[in-house]
Amino acid sequence: MRIAHISDIHCNYGNDFNSKVFDNAVKLLNKTDSDLVFISGDLTTWGLLSEYRLAKEKIKKINGKIAIVPGNHDERNLGYKLFPEFFGDPSFIHMYKNLSFVGLPSSEPDKDDGRLGRRRHRLIEKGIKKCKNLTIVGFHHHLIPVPNSGREKNIIEDAGETLDIILKNEIPLVLMGHRHVPYGVKIHKTLLVNAGTFSCTRTRAHFGHTFNIIDIDNENITVTVVNITNNKQKKMIKFNLENRHHKNRYYTPNIRIE
Ligand SMILES: [Fe+2]
Ligand SMILES: [Fe+2]
Repeated sequence: MRIAHISDIHCNYGNDFNSKVFDNAVKLLNKTDSDLVFISGDLTTWGLLSEYRLAKEKIKKINGKIAIVPGNHDERNLGYKLFPEFFGDPSFIHMYKNLSFVGLPSSEPDKDDGRLGRRRHRLIEKGIKKCKNLTIVGFHHHLIPVPNSGREKNIIEDAGETLDIILKNEIPLVLMGHRHVPYGVKIHKTLLVNAGTFSCTRTRAHFGHTFNIIDIDNENITVTVVNITNNKQKKMIKFNLENRHHKNRYYTPNIRIE
């Protein structure tokens, strides 16, 4: 199974959104022939109706199955009322082939902070029950600090409780966004992966615009970061599902991601 993990599109009529980059990124994305495209939030900048319409129009260009959760920006200005209208239920458990995918909204109206809460924790547990071997959890905010993304803020308020559920159940993969840079790290037996920004003008240093390709077979999860500007792909992490050992090349000097 191949999942394309994209994040932080930030459709906007001001200067937050780069439409050219988006169109170019979609061309690359559609060539990846992914079984699922997961969008981890911030489809808009202000949660406005005009931005939701633009996001809907732009996302139509993406081929194949798509699963979407909202970000903090999408819940601004009553945007949380528009999200279900445009993109369906913000909480879901979808079954794909041999895995269950739990998508959760980690945002609250007009707040930048993240929070899941007990109701959504129960949904994670429900997803695990549906598929003991392979459950993937995706939401917008980060669960742990992300390097190269500035001073720490907006981390999920109940990160401790959330991590506890994820780690004790040995969930293999968690997908997140929000920080506009790609990153991946293993904690206990879980791989935590962030996607960078797909088309927001607010990039960080040389990280630019990126998305992740996540290949899952019976043995491994492989995370590849695609640089949208130069179409270069870098294998960031290989994670063995059997013994949960991994090779993380994020810190290998000659193949640094940025
Ligand atoms: Fe964002
Ligand atoms: Fe965000």
